[in-house]
Amino acid sequence: MRLRGRKGIREALEAQPELIVLEPAQYKGRWKELFGNDNPIHVELGMGKGRFISQLSSLNPQTNYIGVDMYDELIRRASEKAQASREENGGTLANLKLALFNIEKIEHMFDTNELERVYLNFSDPWPKKRHARRRLTHSGFVRKYIDILNENGEIHFKTDSRSLFEFSLNSFADMGLRMRNIALDLHAEETRTDLVMTEYEMKFHDKGVNIHRVEVVIGDKALQTHLHQLEQAERRETEAAQNDREHDGEADA
Ligand SMILES: C[S@@+](CC[C@H](N)C(=O)[O-])C[C@H]1O[C@@H](n2cnc3c(N)ncnc32)[C@H](O)[C@@H]1O
Repeated sequence: MRLRGRKGIREALEAQPELIVLEPAQYKGRWKELFGNDNPIHVELGMGKGRFISQLSSLNPQTNYIGVDMYDELIRRASEKAQASREENGGTLANLKLALFNIEKIEHMFDTNELERVYLNFSDPWPKKRHARRRLTHSGFVRKYIDILNENGEIHFKTDSRSLFEFSLNSFADMGLRMRNIALDLHAEETRTDLVMTEYEMKFHDKGVNIHRVEVVIGDKALQTHLHQLEQAERRETEAAQNDREHDGEADA
């Protein structure tokens, strides 16, 4: 992402301490305290201009959100977006923080079990093989996410990059992780308005590029819930098939 240097950005960030966290490692293990409640915490790693995290936090006041990026200018733009989304949709910014941080050191920002969800949206693909370890879905990163996610923990990943998606599915599978809702073309049937689009997603979607998506179930409780839902769905299918057979039998009689 190309960024223009701008004077006074740091001052603009420092002027919004209730929204912008410039030293987020200070809050490791204390994010609940900072939000002032026990609501679950969802984090977008590499939020860019912040459309996704601003909208989501506006739609879900009972969840706390943290958008992380490593560039001052993007944090500033995300703060503007957050203000604008509140003006449009109402609500407060109490459940949103924007943090300036390098994801490579994410274990210094969050403690074990501190988060409920990690969003990775259109992460840099790092296409060269020798850069594979920099991909945010490399096992080295995923191990860190597993540690900071709690019993309900999940990773939600979206990308336009087919090669990064393939790499990521293999990375998750090699780690023995359970995946669900895998989509190779997320908006194939209709635009998924239930899932908030990111800036990059809107751009690629407008160009007709396929968006890939997967949810990775990490926490024990999340896994139990998922398996229970699968069982229920299977039971419903069996019952529906049984009803169909009975119905066909009646029709034949
Ligand atoms: C391709 S953009 C995607 C932005 C946004 N998620 C979207 O979908 O529109 C990737 C973002 O990740 C951020 N990023 C990449 N590596 C990072 C790192 N190590 N630490 C923090 N942010 C990072 C970049 O600054 C950039 O804003």
